[in-house]
Amino acid sequence: MVYRMIFNQTAYFGRGAIKEIPKEAKSRGFKKAFIVSDPVLVKNGTVKKVTDVLDEAQIPYEIFDDVQPNPPVENIQHGVEEFKKSGADFLIGLGGGSPQDTCKGIGIVVANPEFSDVLSLEGVADTKHPSVPIFGVPTTAGTASETTINYVITDTAHKRKFVAVDPHDIPLVAFVDPDLTDGMPRGLKVATGLDALTHAIESVITPGAWSLSDALSMQTIRMIAKNLAKSVEGDKEAGEQMAYASYITGMSYSNVGLGLVHGMAHPLGGRLGVAHGVANGILLAPVMEYNKDYSGEKYRDIADAFEIPDAYTGDLEHVREEAVQAVAKLTRDLGNPTKISEVGATEADLKPLAHDAFVDVCTPGNPRKPTEEEIYELYSSLM
Ligand SMILES: NC(=O)c1ccc[n+]([C@@H]2O[C@H](COP(=O)([O-])OP(=O)(O)OC[C@H]3O[C@@H](n4cnc5c(N)ncnc54)[C@H](O)[C@@H]3O)[C@@H](O)[C@H]2O)c1
Ligand SMILES: [Fe+2]
Repeated sequence: MVYRMIFNQTAYFGRGAIKEIPKEAKSRGFKKAFIVSDPVLVKNGTVKKVTDVLDEAQIPYEIFDDVQPNPPVENIQHGVEEFKKSGADFLIGLGGGSPQDTCKGIGIVVANPEFSDVLSLEGVADTKHPSVPIFGVPTTAGTASETTINYVITDTAHKRKFVAVDPHDIPLVAFVDPDLTDGMPRGLKVATGLDALTHAIESVITPGAWSLSDALSMQTIRMIAKNLAKSVEGDKEAGEQMAYASYITGMSYSNVGLGLVHGMAHPLGGRLGVAHGVANGILLAPVMEYNKDYSGEKYRDIADAFEIPDAYTGDLEHVREEAVQAVAKLTRDLGNPTKISEVGATEADLKPLAHDAFVDVCTPGNPRKPTEEEIYELYSSLM
């Protein structure tokens, strides 16, 4: 077995990390930035924090702030046009997963114009050129798009989200600055934190997991078990740990893959517009239950991360159930919905959702191989 691991060239962590942007840009000979962000981050002053740093270093830039959550293909196409007019030579993806993923799509299409329809980038596309250089700057603590080789786009015409997996899109440099994530509203901290927890758990039980990915993802589960609830209550130190936890499991899941939680979350985003982390939060414990018998001894490690005392001594069946219940309890305590009916799903949605989940690019990473009927039943049990 040969393992491939792809990481950023360089990454900065800590309060004030964005102040390193000019040095990195200048040392790479970059002249003008194209910042991809969204209107909320312009309005709440997050974009200004970065432009102040660029202004001080006299690095010119243009701002593209047109990105919507669950970004559609059209966001990328519009961004490509604006990038070409701008004269910029590098990209700054500034935001949660939505602006950062749009930024990757823009960088890939500019460098590989034969994919300008964007839809043909689904799955593992055969791009020939690296993206326009990207600096990734997260403002949420969940997707880790700043260190992954993936981006997720919505095919608006068919109401579905698709994942593009392409090593050519990885940001060159990441700047994980907790000063940018402190201001997330409570609900966003919950949703993105549950997204990070889902990345960590799915990447631990996927068949491609190995010692290095386990080291990263298991450490993340411990960090999240300890810090997510505190961070949601406004503890800044815990928020800082969540920013790092998101990135650390990103280094893992980006390389070894995810599973059925993501496979089933994407259709909820594509068809019903459910926020990605909220969808993961609903699905995580039920899918862990479904995967229980296909998880070897891994649920012992997960149970231990949640400080369950008999994690390594108790009966395996019992400990597996304890791990599932620990995750279910955290999700409930955080106030995330627990049913898909709470986020707008109706009986009529179940079949199309199950079909989309069955063919989603993340689903084959699941340790237990589901049939479309089993996925239908899982959704159905959450009505
Ligand atoms: N590239 C990847 O590897 C990857 C992995 C998982 C998920 N995703 C995708 O990322 C997207 C979700 O990203 P997300 O959960 O980070 O949210 P998001 O980028 O969709 O943002 C959600 C909302 O939160 C606001 N927001 C972001 N940061 C804020 C802050 N600091 N303060 C206040 N408001 C803020 C945004 O303006 C937006 O209105 C989905 O499309 C999902 O499928 C990508
Ligand atoms: Fe995710």
